[in-house]
Amino acid sequence: MVHVLGARPNFVKAAPVIAALRAAGAEQAVIHTGQHYDARMSEVFFDELGLPEPDVNLGVGSGGHAEQTAALMIGLEGEFTSRSPALVIVYGDVNSTIAAALVAAKLHIPVAHVEAGLRSFDMTMPEEVNRRVTDQLSALCLVTSPEGVGHLAAEGVPVSRAHLVGNPMIDTLLGNLDAFDTDAVRAAHGLPERYVLATMHRPANVDAPETASALVRHLHGVADLADLVIPVHPRGRANLLAAGLDDHDGVHILDPLGYIDFIAAVRGAAAVVTDSGGLQEETTILGVPCLTVRPNTERPITITHGTNRLVTFEELVPAARKALESAAPAGDRRPPLWDGNAGPRIAEVIMEFLGE
Ligand code: UD1
Repeated sequence: MVHVLGARPNFVKAAPVIAALRAAGAEQAVIHTGQHYDARMSEVFFDELGLPEPDVNLGVGSGGHAEQTAALMIGLEGEFTSRSPALVIVYGDVNSTIAAALVAAKLHIPVAHVEAGLRSFDMTMPEEVNRRVTDQLSALCLVTSPEGVGHLAAEGVPVSRAHLVGNPMIDTLLGNLDAFDTDAVRAAHGLPERYVLATMHRPANVDAPETASALVRHLHGVADLADLVIPVHPRGRANLLAAGLDDHDGVHILDPLGYIDFIAAVRGAAAVVTDSGGLQEETTILGVPCLTVRPNTERPITITHGTNRLVTFEELVPAARKALESAAPAGDRRPPLWDGNAGPRIAEVIMEFLGE
């Protein structure tokens, strides 16, 4: 079987799955598509999470959706043809995910999709398109959250393909709890005791200069309440800085952090402001209030069971004030099966599917 990994969140989800399949004696190869290529977006995750060195890196890099997806498909077709894997395992909702699923389906290789069934019902997000198509093409839909099973059924995916297995991203989080050292991150980056941590990289928030400017004004409003720490994703960096993000008291701009430092910084934050998907889940488990600057989420369980709240630009500062003034939310409202054992459950489903 081969795992196809391309972008930062894929690495965090794959680590426990690969470890569990290794323990089950599976023969595995890892194809890195090269969608993310900066050392801080890729290598550091392989090192920290104990991921095996990729068997191949396709070096696809960045580009428009058509250009990037086409390059991914061409590279993956060559690999799948020469390797003839019994199964292709894909993760999440990035362009590497849909490209691998599409190529495998046309070569009649079964696909297992880790993190199946999530839906934002917002087809303007590239990730929603990627998820829907990938689930249609997958023989195994490995679902993180109970509502995902219903979404798949509503789209005509036979229930026999859907397996509620829990959330492997949370396996990685719980497995590394002892390594997260907030004081060390504070010392390394000169951060204050109390801060709000922000991450912003969605096209809808950062690609248009005028939207990025409006966002920066509201982020400055948050910085007036508490210091604001922002590890800046390469996407949107230029627009956010051109809009004067760092030109305000209390704003700390950081380069992208590795996994261990990043989660340590999240754990120590008084609140998080984000448009990331995974961070909505991680804050839920860590009990850190999360304000998600998006009109919708494919992870509503982080609202019903966790610490997440959706906010508009205008709602951001009042919501941050409220989060900073309130007592920390109870951190033990854990979604079902987010227990650190999703990797072994996924491995079991896969081994059974392959008859091993
Ligand atoms: C991708 C995913 C998104 C995920 C995010 C996590 C898609 C459609 N989107 O978005 O769902 O939340 O990864 O990080 O797949 N860049 C670099 N170095 C890198 C990677 C990217 O500088 O290592 C810059 C390039 O300018 C590139 C831009 O970031 O054009 C966007 O990269 P891309 O992989 O296309 O999408 P992301 O925005 O990272």
